[in-house]
Amino acid sequence: MIRIFHLGANGKAFSRSGHAYEPCRLSGGAETQMPQPLSQRLRSATAPLHRQAEAALNFPACVHDRASYVATLVGFYGLYAPLEQALSLQRGWECLGLNLRERVHSSRLVRDLAILGSWPPPSIMASTVGWLTSFPQALGALYVLEGSTLGGQVILRHLEARSAEIPTDATCFFSGHGAQTGAMWKSMVEALDCFGDRHPEAGHSVQEGTTLTYQAIIRRFTSPLHQSETS
Ligand code: HEM
Repeated sequence: MIRIFHLGANGKAFSRSGHAYEPCRLSGGAETQMPQPLSQRLRSATAPLHRQAEAALNFPACVHDRASYVATLVGFYGLYAPLEQALSLQRGWECLGLNLRERVHSSRLVRDLAILGSWPPPSIMASTVGWLTSFPQALGALYVLEGSTLGGQVILRHLEARSAEIPTDATCFFSGHGAQTGAMWKSMVEALDCFGDRHPEAGHSVQEGTTLTYQAIIRRFTSPLHQSETS
C-alpha cells in the first residue's frame, strides 16, 4: 500500500487517515506523493480575487486622510462584524486548534472608530450573512479575514508615517495580531492544511467560502456609497 503524506506548514507530516496534529513518521526511501496542501491551492486559485480586493480597497487613497480612513474602517466593519457573527455559529474550530475569540477583528475596528469619534451605523450592526452555511465555507472565509492581517502590516507602515493626521492609537485593526501576526498566520495555515488533509472532499466548499468572502469585500469597497465616502 502506498501511503500518501502531506507536509504541514510546520514541516510535520500528516497521513490522510491521521488525527489532527498527530505527526506521522516518514519511513526512509518510501514512495511519497505529496499533493499541494489546501492553503497553497487556495492561494493560487484565489490570487486574482486578492488582486481585485486590493484594487477595490484602493490603497493608499483609502487611508489618505481622516475621513477616508474612517470610511474604510466602517467598510471593513460592515463586512467583518456580520461575518464573524456567522463564523461563531459554526462548530469545528476547536478540533483544528483555532480559537475564534483570538481572531476577532471587529472589536478592534470599533475601538479605532471610537478613538476617531465615530461609530458604525446601526444598519450595519443589524446585517447578517446568509451565504455562509457550512463549516468548510466558514473556514474559507476565516482564511480571508486572517490573510488580510498580512496586507494590514503594509497599510500600518503607511499609517505610521502619517501619524499627524491619523493617531497611532487608532490603528488597532491594521495592526492585526501585532507581534503575533506571523505566528497567528502560521497556525491558520496549519489548521487549514490539517483540515484539507482530513477532509479532501471538502476542499471545494472551503474555496467557495474564500471566493464568496472576497466577492463580498470587492462589492463593498466598489459600492458607489463607499466610493463617495472615500473620495
Ligand atoms: C480587503 C482587502 C484584502 C484582503 C481581504 C486580503 C487578503 C489576503 C489574504 C487571504 C492573504 C493570504 C494569501 C496567502 O498567502 O495564502 C493576503 C496576503 C497578503 N496581502 Fe492581502 N488582502 C487585502 C488587501 C491587501 C492590500 C491592500 C495589500 C497591500 C497594501 C495586501 C498585501 C498583502 C501581502 C503583502 C500579503 C502576503 C503575501 C505573501 O506572503 O506573499 N493585501 N491578503
